[in-house]
Amino acid sequence: MVQITFINSEQKIVEAPENSNLLRVSIKERGGIPFKCGGGLCGTCKCLIEQGIENTDKIKPKERKHLKPEDFEAGYRMACQTFILGDVEVSW
Ligand code: FES
Repeated sequence: MVQITFINSEQKIVEAPENSNLLRVSIKERGGIPFKCGGGLCGTCKCLIEQGIENTDKIKPKERKHLKPEDFEAGYRMACQTFILGDVEVSW
């Protein structure tokens, strides 16, 4: 299991199986990450991986349509396109 901390939701901490989709965990556990499409189209789920960016999977082409290289460098991802491989802390 991996630990996901939703910083904006009063530091809500949940556990999820490794390789879980970040947005799906947020929806299931009421983590609070904003979203609309859930499919990589709208960009609403942009979030900042404040700790554990190394514990996320590779950046998807759909993310590159909404986020700039400097966003990725700063740790931003789109939650609906991101799978979690280890502990992370996320804000939005
Ligand atoms: S929810 Fe629309 S891009 Fe992620």
